Amino acid sequence: MSEEIFKKVVSHSKEYGFVFPSSEIYDGLGAVYDYGQNGVELKNNIRQYWWRSMVQLHENIVGLDSAIFMHPKIWKASGHIDGFSDPMVDNKDSKKRYRADNLLEDQIDKYIKNGKTQKAEELQNALDNAITNNNLEALKYLIIAHEIACPVSGTRNWTDVRQFNLMYKTQMGALAEDAEDVYLRPETAQGIFVNFLNVQKTGRMKIPFGIAQTGKAFRNEVVARGFIMRMREFEQMEMQFFVRPGTEMEWFNKWKESRLQWHLALGTNPDNYRFHEHVKLAHYANAAVDIEYKFPIGFKEVEGIHSRTDFDLSQHQEFSGKKLQYFDPEINQNYVPYVIETSIGLDRMFLVQMCNAFKEEQVQNGEQTETRTLLALPPALAPIKLAVLPLVKKDGLPELARKIMADFKFEFNCHYEEKDSIGKRYRRHDALGTPLCITVDHDSLNDESVTIRHRDTMQQERVKITALKDIIMPQISMNELLRKLN
Ligand code: GAP
Repeated sequence: MSEEIFKKVVSHSKEYGFVFPSSEIYDGLGAVYDYGQNGVELKNNIRQYWWRSMVQLHENIVGLDSAIFMHPKIWKASGHIDGFSDPMVDNKDSKKRYRADNLLEDQIDKYIKNGKTQKAEELQNALDNAITNNNLEALKYLIIAHEIACPVSGTRNWTDVRQFNLMYKTQMGALAEDAEDVYLRPETAQGIFVNFLNVQKTGRMKIPFGIAQTGKAFRNEVVARGFIMRMREFEQMEMQFFVRPGTEMEWFNKWKESRLQWHLALGTNPDNYRFHEHVKLAHYANAAVDIEYKFPIGFKEVEGIHSRTDFDLSQHQEFSGKKLQYFDPEINQNYVPYVIETSIGLDRMFLVQMCNAFKEEQVQNGEQTETRTLLALPPALAPIKLAVLPLVKKDGLPELARKIMADFKFEFNCHYEEKDSIGKRYRRHDALGTPLCITVDHDSLNDESVTIRHRDTMQQERVKITALKDIIMPQISMNELLRKLN
């Protein structure tokens, strides 16, 4: 059933101009997607909500836009060249490649579904052990011992398990002999670390302070599935918060709570969110938690909050030979700051919004019951805030509707539409997530009033044109949303 809803969200996204498969006329490109005319607006609004909440609402957080290409040594220092990989195994018959740990996790799920909890627990422990010790032979052994077959060929004819680096490599420089290997960044965070001193000095920033950045990241995900859940080209919104060593747990807890509040301020049911604390930590972290959302296909990570210690700055200090320290006048000491990172996938947040907003309701239309599809998006995030609809295409109604549009188009994204019956136009805007429609009818010419129709309740009210701004602005403004966070 839930898989069904997820499929409906995917097709709705395409049908209404939110997300298209990339290069579709060439049969698409795996796990790469394009945002359509409505998708780009929703995505920009989510980015704006994040950016304004981080940069505008915090006196001690500033923004950055670093380049995607960076010096290749950065990825050596950060550990991505040696460690940013997944354990992969190929089935020799189907030639399909899988993540070894995913095959084993699927098997654990099967055991749980069949009530074999002890077997599930044993396999989970063995898997955790193998991953922690980076023991590829043990992973292969578990695949064989638990008789895992390839879902495509049905055979157990597996290659050895190998590490597969997720970074895309390309060359910089026109001549082959001079060309240098460079990577497409797999996270935006490193651009922040290497600019730590530039920003601190030029912004005269005092610890604690943060640097925020949004931008593209690239990962050659081997198992990329779940629509825009796992993509090869995606966007991150990351903030690195630099703190005095020893205070990191206090800040970690503050950011954990504050990030959850950011999600909940959008009005999402709190039961659909949960924290997932990491038991096993990356070598550079001393605490990590994921914020997970209950997608129709189950709880999945949307955002990570990580206490990264001084690992990144220390590594860059060592590899670059440049000091990356801060003089703290309050304690009269130089130190390499510790870092709390908040890292959220913009595309995944987009998917949260689409899944959370997608609804099918039975409504009465005269004698008949029909299905109404709507996107109950938070109004401040909706791609189109207001649709202005003349009841008919004549008698001066389009002119009055255009006059109203002319007033509002400077404030936010609004649409003018005169094609189709008014009922059909309402339904179309329900499906696009437009929170408010204004209908201009013949009476409007005399009483200088229009009908406002509300997406979620379908209720209509008659209001004076002169009162429109005061009624509409508080309902759709992002400022109201941001005030909840302050
Ligand atoms: N700098 C830390 C970092 O990159 P991460 O957990 O690998 O941490 C952070 O990624 C967020 O980026 C995830 O919580 C997820 O929302 C998003 N993300 C990661 N890989 C993704 C992918 N292949 N496609 C879409 N979003 C992805």
